[in-house]
Formats: sequence, structure tokens, C-alpha cells
Amino acid sequence: MPWETAEAVGRLGRALATPLKRGVNERNAMQDRQQQPLGDTPPEDFRKQLHELADWIADFREHIEGLRVAPNDKPGAIRHQLPKRAPEEGEPFERILGDVDQIIVPGMVHWSHPMFLGYFGWTSTAPGILGEILTAPLNVNAMTWRTCPAATELETVVVGWLRQWVGLSDEFDGVVYDTASVGIMHALAVAREEAAPATRKLGLTDRNLPRLRIYTSDQAHSSAEKAAIALGLGEENVIRIACDAQFRIDVNSLGQKIAADRQNGLQPMAVIATVGTTSTASIDPVRDIGNLCRQAKIWLHIDAAYGGGFAMVPEYEWIRKGWELADSIVINPHKTVFVPLDFSVLYVRDLERLRHVFSLVPEYLRGDTVDAEKNYMDYGIQLGRRFRALKAWVIWRSLGRVGVVARLSEQIRLANLLADWIKKNDRFELSAQPRRRLFSVCWPCSRHR
Ligand SMILES: Cc1ncc(COP(=O)(O)O)c(C=O)c1O
Repeated sequence: MPWETAEAVGRLGRALATPLKRGVNERNAMQDRQQQPLGDTPPEDFRKQLHELADWIADFREHIEGLRVAPNDKPGAIRHQLPKRAPEEGEPFERILGDVDQIIVPGMVHWSHPMFLGYFGWTSTAPGILGEILTAPLNVNAMTWRTCPAATELETVVVGWLRQWVGLSDEFDGVVYDTASVGIMHALAVAREEAAPATRKLGLTDRNLPRLRIYTSDQAHSSAEKAAIALGLGEENVIRIACDAQFRIDVNSLGQKIAADRQNGLQPMAVIATVGTTSTASIDPVRDIGNLCRQAKIWLHIDAAYGGGFAMVPEYEWIRKGWELADSIVINPHKTVFVPLDFSVLYVRDLERLRHVFSLVPEYLRGDTVDAEKNYMDYGIQLGRRFRALKAWVIWRSLGRVGVVARLSEQIRLANLLADWIKKNDRFELSAQPRRRLFSVCWPCSRHR
């Protein structure tokens, strides 16, 4: 056979063999699939696992008191008990749950433990857990109204409930984010746009703009600097103002610093007042700060991440003084209003200002955004959004305003009781005096360490 003919026959043979080989491979793969179904867990198995998990959760809650609050482990202790390689084959749920018992639970700090007294009070409750569990099977993306009308509308409802509860005027409307740090960043992005119009479009560089300044107290949370870093404002442009003996910002010093900066050609952009500082729960004189901001035409953001929830307690309504002068307020129900982490609400006076900075509808979502009252993707940098409103709705319906207020009042009673004990015990020092009895303590003090 001439060489060309042999070559042609070989080519024909390979061309015929390829689909045959593909057919065999596909048949093998199909047989594999029949042995190992590609779908989800069969319904009956899933039901069994759910029952097991329900028992696991109930047992965990019932016996949590018997666990150590925090492990004694050294860094890496958990990691070293786990395989280095990612799993090649699937494993049964029972084995995974066994490792949760053996490795994960003993390696945890149990924030829900009754003896956990670190950081802030925590938000684990049975209704909160039920709300989280309910959210899991729904697993929707609340980016536009059309991608899940119920998630979008429920978010508007719970944001409205919290606004009513803390006595905020309905000039404010809000959006749910994961954390207050993200909320403050969005609030300051709007402040930046108003201080330096068209920043959204053109950015900050090559525009001959003055340095934009943010002012807050030396007790305020570090999320102010984080926001300045993210927004390209520079952390050194967050100016920390000294506080008085009760850890509240000194408004005179604030006014003087703003005036001095103006004289030096800098541009005051925003003031952050805190209602419930991280270290001592002190409350800035918000109304005085608000009046100063109004006169100076500066954005006022109130960081009520911690203290905001306490505005629901009738004897503490005074902490809302001056909120009417704010441009934005952040409140963390995951700190004090019993919603499990994460759930933070940013309120903005005229929410359209926020939408103006962040709304951007790509071609592939254009059809989704028509006819909607609100598409929450327009109010921040996140596109995909969890259905966070559901857990808030479940817990707030379960407790009601009365139940929330009763629990917050009890927390205040206990804190005051502790303060009284500390005052009577000379081994301890009360580092922040209770101010109208809303406060926190740090101890042991430096004298007794
Ligand atoms: C006063 C205050 N603001 C903001 C934050 C930041 O909160 P998040 O963890 O939700 O970002 C905290 C956290 O402790 C805080 O205490």
C-alpha cells in the first residue's frame, strides 16, 4: 500500500475509533454515576440527618454550661488534628459531625456560654437559632427585588421595626450589612461624595482636591480608620479628639480642630460621634456635635453599633438626644438586639443619597431591576446578599418589643449590681463611672494586676 494510502486509512481508522472510545468512556461514567448518584442526599436520609442534628443542637444548648468557656490550646492545635489534604472522596455526615464533636467544639471559645463575659453581651437564643436554621434551606440571593421579593420586602420591614423601636424619625431609611465596619465605610463614601462631588466617577487623584478630614474621639472604634483606608482618604486624616473624664469627646476641642484645619486649607468632611464606645460604653454629646456639624456643613455619622439598641429602654431614651441631626447612624442588632451575628443596620437620612453613590446596574441584571420598590444591591458594594432579615424577623417576633426591653433592662440591672460590688471591694477599681447607669467595666485594674 502506498504511503499516502496507508496514512489516509490510518486517519479514517482514528476518526472512527474516537467516537467509539468516547462512547465507551461515557458508558463507564454512566455506570459510575449509577453507583454513586450525582444528585443530593436522598430525602429520607436527609430527614434522618436533620433529626440527628436537631438533637445535637438541643443537647449542645442544654449542656453548654459543662464545657470550658475557652480552650487552653496553643495556636495550630486544631489544624494539626485535621488532614492536610483536601478530601478526595465524599464522607458521610455522621463522620463529619463526629469531628465537630471531637475537634471543633473543644477548640472553641463558647460565646454563648453563661460564663462568657468577654467583649459584648452575646445574642444566642433558641428563636435566633431557629431563624438561622430556617434561612439555610431557603438560601436565596437578595440582590434585587426580583431575585427574591420576600427577602427584599422583609428587609424593608425589619429595618422599619428597628427604626420605630429606637425612636428614629422616618426621614431615615436603612440597609442591612454584615457589620458596623462595613456600614461606616458606606456612610463615609456618601460623605466623601458630598464633600468632593464626582468622586464616584473620577476618583480622588489628579483633581487638586484638598485633604478630606474625619474627626472622632480618642475612644471611638478603629473602624473609622479602616473606612478611611478603604476609601482612599488615608488613616492619618482621621483626627482623634481628646475626651473628658467620662470618656466623651470634648466638643470645644473638636470645634477648634475643625476651624484650624479649615484655616490650613484642609476640608472637614465628617464627624463620627459614638453612642456606646467599645471600652467604656460612654456616650458622646451628640446634640452639641450635631449642631456644630450643621453650622459647619459637615456630615454627622453616629456609631451606635453597641449603644443604639439600648435606646429601646424607656429610661435610656435620653441616649437618642441629637440623633435627629445625624446624616447616618449605624446600629448592630447582633450586639444588643438579639439577632445572631451578622446583622448591622445603616440608616441614612434620605437613603437616596446612598443609592446615588452605589447604584450600578450591569446589562445582565437590567431586566431584574424594573418595577422594583427597592433593589438592595443598589445600596452598597455587595451584589450577592444573604437573607439576613429572616432571622431578625423570627427573633423579634418571638421576643416582641416588651421581651427585648425586659432583657436589656435586666442586663443593665446586672451591670449596676456588678458596679456596686466593685465599689465596695478595694481590690477592684471602677474604670468608668456608670453614667445614668449605662456603662461597662474593665478589671482587674492596673493597681491590682
Ligand atoms: C462602638 C463600635 N463601633 C463599631 C464596631 C465594629 O463592629 P463590627 O464588628 O460590626 O464591624 C464595634 C465593635 O466592637 C464597636 O464597639
